[in-house]
Amino acid sequence: MTSSVFETAPPDPAGYLNRVAGSELGRSYKRRMLDELAPRPGQTVLDLGCGSGADLEALAAAVTASGTVIGIDHDQHMVDTARARAAGPATVDVRLGDLHDLPLPDDAADRARTDRVLQHVADPRTVLGEIRRVLRPGGRLVMGEPDWETLAVDHPDGDLTRAYTRHVAERVIRNAGIGRQLPRLAAESGFHVPEVVPVTPVFRDVRAADQILGLERCTRRAVAAGYFTAEAARTWLTHLTQGPFLATVTFYVVVAEA
Ligand SMILES: C[S@@+](CC[C@H](N)C(=O)[O-])C[C@H]1O[C@@H](n2cnc3c(N)ncnc32)[C@H](O)[C@@H]1O
Repeated sequence: MTSSVFETAPPDPAGYLNRVAGSELGRSYKRRMLDELAPRPGQTVLDLGCGSGADLEALAAAVTASGTVIGIDHDQHMVDTARARAAGPATVDVRLGDLHDLPLPDDAADRARTDRVLQHVADPRTVLGEIRRVLRPGGRLVMGEPDWETLAVDHPDGDLTRAYTRHVAERVIRNAGIGRQLPRLAAESGFHVPEVVPVTPVFRDVRAADQILGLERCTRRAVAAGYFTAEAARTWLTHLTQGPFLATVTFYVVVAEA
């Protein structure tokens, strides 16, 4: 029963990013981030941790032929996928690089964005320092990062729910609480932070939630890590497939100015 609801095999990483970007949720928060970034014709815009390049086309359209979009990612497969996708506009340049040591000179860009990236990096402070270095005075950074410590799933067994969400926050995502920390970390890195926008999607459909959250795969990892017994995992997942479903997680869009 549960296997027909949940995706059990891990999706291809670039395919997963494209799936999120193409979902109603992805389109909506990415639109909001683009509005906050407000890239203008002729500007240089950085997409840091650009992944499969889902945002490059919209950024290229905004800066027009007189501007430049630079995507940076440390994963060669992502860089190749993003390059293939951005083969059209000459204004897009996708580079292999580490955000802890940006391959750019000081004051090189007018705008920068991170989208679900700082949650994964080894040292968010170093990355923010690097972004501050490469942004021109008055330049703008827009970050969209989740706060996995806000993950809530409705289930009659509160202990199982807490075990699941604790496992996600402690073992699955490196910087699980980054969403709420960003305004402070950005201010400590020398940015002015004029705006913080919380975005909380409400998942009412278990299949749609699973496509983003990987509920079965995370439960399996929680069993392996000792957060759940196999029997508790079955109880947990079976209930999620029956009756009304609800899960939420808050995602923060943070605007920072250099
Ligand atoms: C969840 S994906 C998001 C991709 C893209 N921003 C999007 O919205 O589709 C995170 C990306 O950050 C990249 N990444 C993580 N740590 C990085 C680092 N230290 N330097 C460069 N890229 C990094 C990963 O390779 C991955 O492509």
